[in-house]
Amino acid sequence: MELAGKRVLLIISGGIAAYKSLDLIRRLRERGASVRPVMSRAAQEFITPLAVGALAASHVYTDLFSREDEQDVGHIRLARDCDLVVVAPASADLMAKMAHGLADDLPSAVLLATDRPVLLAPAMNPVMWNAAPTRRNIETLKADGRHMIGPMRGEMAESGEAGTGRMAEPLEIVAAVVSLLAPGERPLAGRRAIVTSGPTHEPIDPVRYIANRSSGKQGHAIAAALARLGADVTLVSGPVTIADPAGLRTIHVETAEQMLEAVLGALPADIAVMVAAVADWRVVGAAGQKIKKLPGSAPAPLALAENPDILKTIGHHAERPTYVVGFAAETQDVEENGRRKLQAKGADIIVANDVSPDTGIMGGDRNRVKLISKAGVEEWPDLGKDEVAARLASRIAAELSGG
Ligand code: C5P
Repeated sequence: MELAGKRVLLIISGGIAAYKSLDLIRRLRERGASVRPVMSRAAQEFITPLAVGALAASHVYTDLFSREDEQDVGHIRLARDCDLVVVAPASADLMAKMAHGLADDLPSAVLLATDRPVLLAPAMNPVMWNAAPTRRNIETLKADGRHMIGPMRGEMAESGEAGTGRMAEPLEIVAAVVSLLAPGERPLAGRRAIVTSGPTHEPIDPVRYIANRSSGKQGHAIAAALARLGADVTLVSGPVTIADPAGLRTIHVETAEQMLEAVLGALPADIAVMVAAVADWRVVGAAGQKIKKLPGSAPAPLALAENPDILKTIGHHAERPTYVVGFAAETQDVEENGRRKLQAKGADIIVANDVSPDTGIMGGDRNRVKLISKAGVEEWPDLGKDEVAARLASRIAAELSGG
């Protein structure tokens, strides 16, 4: 409970990203924080005070001139009766008000009246983010000592437009809150970690390749979770469509051979988590030109060669990281195969999951895993991939500290 006893005043301003604030409230409370919500008028167009209040288990403050609220708390007390003010999402409009000291509604009045640290999680359309007035306001707010997380690159929820403007994910915001309110809670500070993620693409010719259905979601989430605990993380990613996680180094590769080279180049490390679905085989002598379909002739057979096993290489390396984690995606005999891999690959732990098509795990947002180690088998319930990542990162931290 990194945030036990901490009081967060959460200001929700307008924007589609407000839906993520509901999850943010849950994540903060899970870690022991109490959350007192303030909502702007625009925020209430996107999510209801009822939902916010229910998740926060608190009254929701919406009105600068509410007779009850003003008698009860008052915006001055609201602004000071907390350890941290978080604004998520922070709209362009609210930040413009902050930058200029305007105070004509409850969120802006609280922000002007507070003497507590303020963390902003901006979210807006990329064009608004890059607009000259916003750039000026962000500079002003930074100079005023406001903390900021995001915005991230990625696709916008409403328009599908890509660019910078997406609000940081709730767990990223939580990590920023933890580092502001409980800076000691970084058990992996000073540790180096290498994580592989995603599929590999093995070229057949310049336009065709062998691939698999891995999305990179689990590996990327693990890299981010390790970074949140303070590790210095190198993520080696195969071709994926998801964004690079914040707060770490991402190296992009295509083939298994390139992935191995990048992983070896990132040594030495304390932790290796090999999550990538590396293609077992590559095509021998991939064609330099597109292979043509010739009328009447049989298709050319593909000659395959085995790819290097990155996990096995790392597990037996002279500079083997202290803690090596492998994954085992199986469609049958999950435990037995996991145990065999633990041995063969020189891993400390194998995270095994059943990726049969009916599980929806491959490419999906949830995962159900078994942890296989010398100590035995531990079964985890069905969890979101980021929750699996958070738990695994805590486990790794505990193992490294001998806990
Ligand atoms: O043998 P299998 O591919 O099922 O093992 C899975 C584990 O080994 C995963 O951790 C995966 O990242 C790793 N692996 C690897 N290089 C390969 C094949 C698998 O690192 N060529």
